Amino acid sequence: MSVLIKNGRIITAADDYTADIFITGETIAAIGRNLSVSAEQVIDAKGLLVMPGGVDPHVHLDMPFMGTFSSDTHETGTRAALFGGTTTVIDFVLQKQGHSLHEALTEWNKRARGTAVGDYSFHMAVTDYNENTKQEIREMIEQEGITSFKTFMAYKGALMIDDRQMTALMQEVKKQGGLVTVHATNGDMIDYLVAKHKSEGKLAPLYHYLSQPEVTEAEASARFTDIANYTGCPGYIVHLTCEGALNAVRNATRRNQKVFVETCIQYLLLDASLYEKDFEGAKWVMSPPLREPKDQATLWAGINQGLVQVVATDHCPFKWEQKLMGRNDFSKIPNGHPAIEHRMELLFSEGVNKGKISLNKYVEVACTNPARIFGMFPRKGTIAVGSDADIILINPQEKHTLSVSSHHMNVDYSAYEGKELTGKVKTVLLRGKIAIDRNTCQVAKGYGQFIKRNKIVQTG
Ligand code: URP
Ligand code: ZN
Ligand code: ZN
Repeated sequence: MSVLIKNGRIITAADDYTADIFITGETIAAIGRNLSVSAEQVIDAKGLLVMPGGVDPHVHLDMPFMGTFSSDTHETGTRAALFGGTTTVIDFVLQKQGHSLHEALTEWNKRARGTAVGDYSFHMAVTDYNENTKQEIREMIEQEGITSFKTFMAYKGALMIDDRQMTALMQEVKKQGGLVTVHATNGDMIDYLVAKHKSEGKLAPLYHYLSQPEVTEAEASARFTDIANYTGCPGYIVHLTCEGALNAVRNATRRNQKVFVETCIQYLLLDASLYEKDFEGAKWVMSPPLREPKDQATLWAGINQGLVQVVATDHCPFKWEQKLMGRNDFSKIPNGHPAIEHRMELLFSEGVNKGKISLNKYVEVACTNPARIFGMFPRKGTIAVGSDADIILINPQEKHTLSVSSHHMNVDYSAYEGKELTGKVKTVLLRGKIAIDRNTCQVAKGYGQFIKRNKIVQTG
């Protein structure tokens, strides 16, 4: 199978030029002006932007959590991702406390293999670090191509590890060539505030927000950064939301330390005023919670300063009936919200089209950096000869409106209902195949491949 994309304006993290792209099989074979090749399929991209497929390194598909499962499977979630221009996602395998990493991986493989529509990889969440787990770190990296290890400094009793485990894990991961990622919030402080609010009869979603003040994230981010510095292990903070936490990372740069930072699209665009909508606020109950406009400003600036390298989603959808589990108690509302489908278009519309970030920065934070940081570059995350032909075509001026009635995620509400965007993903290629065109998905369940990742190279 061969495809020729003609006359497109190609944007990568570094370049902006007009050329044709010739694809044979799954990869890009040639890029040049007026290529004289014959192809089985020709796409005229005049007037469109041609960019690498998006890489979302933070999604939770079919994940057991807070007494239920996130509602998108690997099939529905990766298909929805494709509709929005994300061709590769990294999902989280959760070790069960008292069990091995391999057991968890077997479980997740059963869910994802043969069902994913788009490409995917796994982070391994280490929730119980001990001598057995230590042995498994090397095997995950060398045999399974899983090179990043997720830790939680919150969710005590289910997912949280303590600082003793964190230090030991980081030493081992550094030795084996991996990266430790972290949900950096102070679990004990949060648990205290949750209990306090409940004892005072404060049970609405607003108290989810008030139980996780900025200091809980700033403190944990600084602590994680210090442990990463001590151990020398590459570190990555997931879903960073606020000024205090980003300042902890900014401070670390003064000792020439690099900690990677991911924020998520919702923290750039939505704010905590949504928790004032009584129980409807449950739609945005996630951890950390949405913050304040001043934090949004800090995050946009952080992207342009190079302090925030990645914009992800933390896609963790729950249907309304699942959210209702916390009708009378905010601490029982499953944490998470749907976003996998909308990240690329939201960031384009609100970031690029509103002049907050450049086109190159857009590709950098949504495609290239996640691929590079997590050991998939240059196979993923760029447009270059030899790379996978994961390519999206965007009409930069087309307007459309987000709604539950038109999205493809398996969830019965939209976190962005009625929001009008400028910039629409028109065509998506995944490994050389047209996956999305004319608003239909043209690849089947099972087309998505597991992407083994390389060891982590700490870049500047
Ligand atoms: O609220 C969230 N973020 N749910 C998913 C689990 C996590 O903490 O990332
Ligand atoms: Zn988290
Ligand atoms: Zn998450």
